[in-house]
Amino acid sequence: MTNYKLSATTFAGLEQVLADELLELGAKNIKKGIRNVQFEGDLGFIYKANYNIHTALRIFKQIYFAKFVKTGGQLYHQISNIDWSKYISVNQTFRIDVSGKSKFFDNTQFVALKSKDAIVDQFRSKTGSRPDIDLRNPDIRILVHLQGEKVQVLLDSSGDSLHKRGYRSATNIAPINEVLAAGITKITGWKALTNLLDPMCGSGTILIEAAMIAMNIPANINRKKFGFENWQDFDEELFNLIKDVSLKKIREIPKGIKIMGFDKAPSAVEKAIQNVKNAGLEEFISIKQQDFFKTFRPENKTTLIFNPPYNERLSIDVKYFYKEIGDTLKNNYPDITAWILVGNTEALKSVGLRTSKKIALYNGKIEVRLVKYEMFKGKIKDRKV
Ligand SMILES: C[S@@+](CC[C@H](N)C(=O)[O-])C[C@H]1O[C@@H](n2cnc3c(N)ncnc32)[C@H](O)[C@@H]1O
Repeated sequence: MTNYKLSATTFAGLEQVLADELLELGAKNIKKGIRNVQFEGDLGFIYKANYNIHTALRIFKQIYFAKFVKTGGQLYHQISNIDWSKYISVNQTFRIDVSGKSKFFDNTQFVALKSKDAIVDQFRSKTGSRPDIDLRNPDIRILVHLQGEKVQVLLDSSGDSLHKRGYRSATNIAPINEVLAAGITKITGWKALTNLLDPMCGSGTILIEAAMIAMNIPANINRKKFGFENWQDFDEELFNLIKDVSLKKIREIPKGIKIMGFDKAPSAVEKAIQNVKNAGLEEFISIKQQDFFKTFRPENKTTLIFNPPYNERLSIDVKYFYKEIGDTLKNNYPDITAWILVGNTEALKSVGLRTSKKIALYNGKIEVRLVKYEMFKGKIKDRKV
């Protein structure tokens, strides 16, 4: 099978985990970029990656590359060089997105418009009719990526962003993005060798993603549709085969390991339970209504991963709240490892504990920090070395 030039996008800070995940899935010639990873793979790999990957937002296939594009006319000409009948049929809809940067084009709308004209004109002159644009729910998504005077044309194989896994029917005030939740779980290295507790679990995303990663469940097992299913070369038999092979790799959570969520708000608990059910994981994840500040560590070795509220909208006294997190960890959770995703450096100071790791990540445009605390039984100086 032909190997294609592919790329996957993700959140800033997750490039390494994405590259690792792609390598594990069998991608070739992997190169990390900024918020993306370039790699190579065949048609089957496009299906496999979309179905399985936890830490990518979208996966693109390059269909054209031009070295010198400096004017609208040159852009039109280059886009016209592509035989679009290979990628879109006249009764399908499409949309064009533009990414990257070029000093020759300061208006991405213009780039999208010129590209659209080139595609539509080609269809009109060959067939007398043209495919329509649909910005909301297009059959085919095209990306025109500018890099100085270079232009790449890519097809989006994912369709809707891959964070839309299909299990989250109910959202609370500030759910974490599924791709970010999966990324932080991978950074923590949690592999179901200890219990996992998200003591402020909201809609349950971290727990669901972590359980799926530990059990090797394809990230998009519950998703209804991928962009590549609308492609001219869609091979349903191959896709079904890839799904079957992926499903055979699912493994059990080791006996005795528990995955637990707490939330203070009854509405969040209800939503988390519903989402866990949607993901088919109710056998493995338990959710309870609890105020974290009134709880104590479970008996067995436990890892905590959570993203507490940090936004003014959530109407909390940030300093006081984060100090309570620190006090609860110190007093009630000795001998555990806690990973917290914090969106506010002031809040971090209020925790008042020494971090053993600090990792900068971006949640969209917001800079966040994933911090690690290792709580010891006694004072640090009493520890054996
Ligand atoms: C930013 S949200 C977590 C989002 C979650 N990761 C998700 O994917 O939906 C923070 C959650 O902390 C909960 N919370 C606030 N104070 C709490 C407390 N003292 N104990 C337990 N949960 C608390 C809120 O109800 C909210 O659901």
